[in-house]
Amino acid sequence: MISVLVLLFTLVQVRQEKERLTIDLQRRSALLGESLKESIEPLLEKERPERLQKIVEKFGNRERLAGVVVYDVKDKLIAATPSLSAHLSDPPAFVTHTMNSDRESGEFFQLGGKEMYLYTLPLHREEGVAGALVIIHDPSYIQERLSLIWNDSFIRFLVNAFVISLMTLLLIRWSMAGPIAKMAQWMKHLRTEKKKSPFRLPSARIFEPLTREVTQMATSISAAREAAEEEARLRNTAESTWTPVRLKEQVCTLLRERPLLVISNREPYMHEKKEKKIGCLVPASGLVTALEPVLKACGGTWIAHGSGDADRDVVDDQSKIRVPPEEPQYVLKRVWLTKEEEKGYYYGFSNEGFWPLCHVAHTRPSFRAEDWEYYQTVNKKFAEATLEELEEGGEPLILIQDYHFALLPRLIKEERPDARLALFWHIPWPNSESFSICPWQREILHGMLGADLIGFHTQFHCNNFLDTVDRTLESRIDWEHFAVERGGQSTLVKPFPISIAFPGQTNASTANSATRPNKESLLKDLGVKAKHLGVGVDRIDYTKGILERFKAIELFLGKYPAYQGEFTFVELGAPSRIHIKEYHDLISAVEIEADRINWRFKTKEWQPIVFLKKHHSHEEIRPFYETSDLCMVTSLHDGMNLVAKEYVGARNDESGVLILSQFTGASRELRDALIVNPYDIEEMAEAIRTALEMSVSEQKVRMQAMRETLKNRNIYYWAANLITALAQVRLEKTS
Ligand code: G6P
Repeated sequence: MISVLVLLFTLVQVRQEKERLTIDLQRRSALLGESLKESIEPLLEKERPERLQKIVEKFGNRERLAGVVVYDVKDKLIAATPSLSAHLSDPPAFVTHTMNSDRESGEFFQLGGKEMYLYTLPLHREEGVAGALVIIHDPSYIQERLSLIWNDSFIRFLVNAFVISLMTLLLIRWSMAGPIAKMAQWMKHLRTEKKKSPFRLPSARIFEPLTREVTQMATSISAAREAAEEEARLRNTAESTWTPVRLKEQVCTLLRERPLLVISNREPYMHEKKEKKIGCLVPASGLVTALEPVLKACGGTWIAHGSGDADRDVVDDQSKIRVPPEEPQYVLKRVWLTKEEEKGYYYGFSNEGFWPLCHVAHTRPSFRAEDWEYYQTVNKKFAEATLEELEEGGEPLILIQDYHFALLPRLIKEERPDARLALFWHIPWPNSESFSICPWQREILHGMLGADLIGFHTQFHCNNFLDTVDRTLESRIDWEHFAVERGGQSTLVKPFPISIAFPGQTNASTANSATRPNKESLLKDLGVKAKHLGVGVDRIDYTKGILERFKAIELFLGKYPAYQGEFTFVELGAPSRIHIKEYHDLISAVEIEADRINWRFKTKEWQPIVFLKKHHSHEEIRPFYETSDLCMVTSLHDGMNLVAKEYVGARNDESGVLILSQFTGASRELRDALIVNPYDIEEMAEAIRTALEMSVSEQKVRMQAMRETLKNRNIYYWAANLITALAQVRLEKTS
């Protein structure tokens, strides 16, 4: 490209120079001719050829002048520079033409094999044109000048090409070789040092895809290495901690190539349209938090309601997609529901009926026959979607999740008696009297008892369930083994306290644990200056005791004014089930309450409550867990509550205090939390003060104990127990 430009530029320059020099030559020839003419014309008149010849010879010696020739009007040569007379004895045609037209002219002409410039002027006598004077110049200097221009351009081109190549080379070295070397250093450090690399990966846009892949690969490699080291360590010390690798091995042994299926209403990944792009988010759900690591470890198929507005755009023709998006490890199969089905089954029966029925939170359940119809229809729809998956493999293990699918175990069992079915109930089970208000209690229990194994978080809920069955259905309760015998089928009812993947046992936490954020900057981003930080993470749900928590904060600040301006509580609240009036109203109630309390206490730079109403990703929540002085879980009733466990899991600095409702399943395990009754506002306010004033050493003792519990009773332990129990139920029956 550059060469073409240089060539064009030189061509133009040469043309212009040639033109200029020719005009100059023509001008000089004309001037010379004019002055010669004055001496020649009188001699022509007097017909003195020898005199004419002398003048011609004298002029012919001038610099660059090759010679002079004079013709008479009959084209006869009458005087000429001697060296030219032989070549120009006859005039060239344009000389004759000049005489005929009586007009001066200049031409380039080949003379004796050499190019010359001939300038012809008509000579006059009184009667008119009497001959022609030809001034002949050697124009070779023009050619020399033009060659010089060509040479100059060529040299300039060479210099430019050299400089550009050098600069390109330097640029490539600086912009590519540097970052690539950095990347290599980063990877080498990771390979040899095992710690987070102090080198930074190049951030330039051009490297983005490469950086993303390299980071992903490094994360997987270091997770695999950690898992292998953990396994080796456990083998050496004969510890019993469950890891993904150990779970995978156990499940493989139990499954022996048979498929593993998980069914839940909520899907682990939702695809949503955002500004014309499709994004993927992990919904706020304890169930998803718990089960995702299990599927990642064991593989299998997860069947769930496709509720994201872009869910259909990304699945294949069987409504399937492999997830997690960044590193696919299992299949997600989406089931599509109509608006009416979603309204009746999900919003209606599940969340306005079952949810308040099972949670003692004093919100009255609504039972509508129409919702019940849809609940049955959707359970059938999920049964069909599951049975479709079973066609290929025999004797599958199926883990059905939660209150959305009470009828599913029976529907599947009737079609596939060989399937091993577990139903895990993530929410509490009320006492039999409370449950009896449900008009379809018999159908529900009958559906549930299609499972071989029913799991709850606590023994208390198992007992409530067994008691409910005992009072509602004709059956035999085996209180010794906690089983129900009915119609020739046995259902074991056991507690399996669900948990989290303890950090260090999952990819995500490994990748991020090294970067601990800073409390001040976190608060600064929220526009608040405070010394102490408290955090709450919830779906905005009436069972979570958010209003009670805020009241306790208000009471605490009123009772201990020294903390005004010092303590800020950040509530990360994810709007949930917003088409249900109670949930919709609750969001406004929480906002109004936060506003009221803030208005009462706030100063220019500080406010007691920051309510962040949106869905937060795990990555957004983690810094709050890691830096807050306390975390409040104040559910009025909760099956387990994994926020409590996540907070403890995130505190690898062994500080921070957990304030935990006595009505959560988690309070049975995390006994070193400050256990509170969320209905007792005074007690919660005191707990906040105790937490903020607790010595570092006491925090450490408590946190260490809770972390130890979680390390052993992690989600892999839960899954291993549940799946093993399910496999054994079958063995017992067939033996
Ligand atoms: C509870 C239930 C889950 C549910 C989650 C979120 O944890 O036990 O089944 O997924 O709440 O509620 P959502 O209605 O948004 O799925």
